[in-house]
Amino acid sequence: MTDGTAVPPSTTAAKAVTGIEPVSPEALEVEVPQAARDEVLVLDFGGQYSQLIARRIRECGVFAELLPHTVALERIRERRPAALVLSGGPASVYSEGAPELRRELLELGVPVLGICYGMQAMVHLLGGRVEGAEAGEFGRTPLLVSDGGGRLLAGLPREQQCWMSHRDSVFAPPPDFVALASSPGSPVAACESPARGLYGIQFHPEVVHTPYGSQILDRFLRELAGIEERWSPASVIDEQIGRVRAQVGDGEVVCGLSGGVDSATAAALVHRAVGDQLTCVLVDHGLLRKHEAKQVVRTFRDLGITLVHVAAQDRFLERLAGVTEPERKRRIIGEEFIRVFEEQARRLTDARFLVQGTLYSDVIESGGDGLAGAATIKSHHNVGGLPEDLALELVEPLRMLFKDEVRVVAAELGLPERIVWRQPFPGPGLAIRVVGGEITAERLEILREADAILQAEIRAAGLYRELWQSFCVLPVARSVGVQGDERSYAYPIVIRAVTSSDAMTADWARLPYDLLERVSNRIINEVSGVNRVALDISSKPPATIEWE
Ligand code: XMP
Repeated sequence: MTDGTAVPPSTTAAKAVTGIEPVSPEALEVEVPQAARDEVLVLDFGGQYSQLIARRIRECGVFAELLPHTVALERIRERRPAALVLSGGPASVYSEGAPELRRELLELGVPVLGICYGMQAMVHLLGGRVEGAEAGEFGRTPLLVSDGGGRLLAGLPREQQCWMSHRDSVFAPPPDFVALASSPGSPVAACESPARGLYGIQFHPEVVHTPYGSQILDRFLRELAGIEERWSPASVIDEQIGRVRAQVGDGEVVCGLSGGVDSATAAALVHRAVGDQLTCVLVDHGLLRKHEAKQVVRTFRDLGITLVHVAAQDRFLERLAGVTEPERKRRIIGEEFIRVFEEQARRLTDARFLVQGTLYSDVIESGGDGLAGAATIKSHHNVGGLPEDLALELVEPLRMLFKDEVRVVAAELGLPERIVWRQPFPGPGLAIRVVGGEITAERLEILREADAILQAEIRAAGLYRELWQSFCVLPVARSVGVQGDERSYAYPIVIRAVTSSDAMTADWARLPYDLLERVSNRIINEVSGVNRVALDISSKPPATIEWE
């Protein structure tokens, strides 16, 4: 899930898998913003960086959408894209069932850039030579640009680094193509036929380890595809306002807030569209961070948005009594959340719509690895986890945006910095950070206080935005210490801080020693019940970010 924020997983409506139904690749499409007439379609051949390609193109100020490579030609023609990009993929062009590149795609009359497998498929189809090399190339690789780099690589240094991830290599370009670069394992690491508008690169311009990657993409888009228009995430605001109004009419709308940026942004946007027809509900399960619920309440009050703050701490704590098993905790919190939310939604007798902070990555990922056609998708018409008789229709104004783009929209809508840049926070909140023992009010209080100190110090050190997540964990295991002249028998607090770009992998953050010392001293001195502070120095994998 992407909000990464406080709504328990099973209750994030469309984010929960409620009904799996086969879908056509078209189901993955979002509505193209009208503001972006010059759209690029990225056809996904199953590469691990395909989403990233779309993100990078958007960072160049051009709207891009990711579609399965199997998408019907007719649909592509209808969309009249300004350019096509063919992504990488794990297959060899020679393997059985390798994703096929249809020749018609190269004859649409728009420039095409093939990346990695995308280039190999193009070369193979057009009569060049692709072969299995002795060894593949993986990771940072030196690239040698030849003869000025042709049109695609013009102006780039002759020698540079790039990021490779392939087994087969191109040994000869197709007739009419010129080779533009090579690397130790790729005799032809880039090639082009400007007359036909076809370009290929073996390396990955979308990853940060290819220093000139963005420049190459930008050059393809602006110089070779001739795209002039500048798209920005903020430009979707007006358009979405129009769409939401058209969808909702004068109906009542309800939105569950988590404190995170996605739900808050979706709510703020819908409020701009339909004002008082929107009621937000904040289910306070008592597992949020210090002052977090208050901050959300204040922010929404300042924005003039109706918010019902349901203080349900006791209910949650009661149901969690005696529970230590992580998955049971999650289930209980999810169920209870639904119950509370449902009670509130029923009070709004006329509510027919539910706002969701579904992001573009949810849309893509819910297609799973089924981009090749056998896709399954979470039904976005089903209100996941919520009782069917509520029969709420989803309003998803962020469906076309990536997380970083949502932050831009959030700032534009006037949400405060704390919400715009909030680190991901799990739905079950502090409940999965009291580990190895029962969740009690006292333990939650200790954890909340320690966590507040950590947050304050990390912000003061200017590191908050650099960390993917930073938080405290309270293992329920006491140890001996000495405080003043007295022996103590108290809990440890573990500091967990990680860097990551998507939570799939993470590295433990090298926090400065003086910061760690300050945090440790403050926690031990200021939080009664703690006599030790430890630092988690494990990466993911093999550890996970959370302890449960
Ligand atoms: P792990 O611990 O698996 O976490 O490395 C990856 C990301 O997911 C978040 N996370 C959750 N988010 N409900 C959520 O909404 C959950 O039950 C949950 N468990 C983990 C975690 O904080 C990290 O960002």
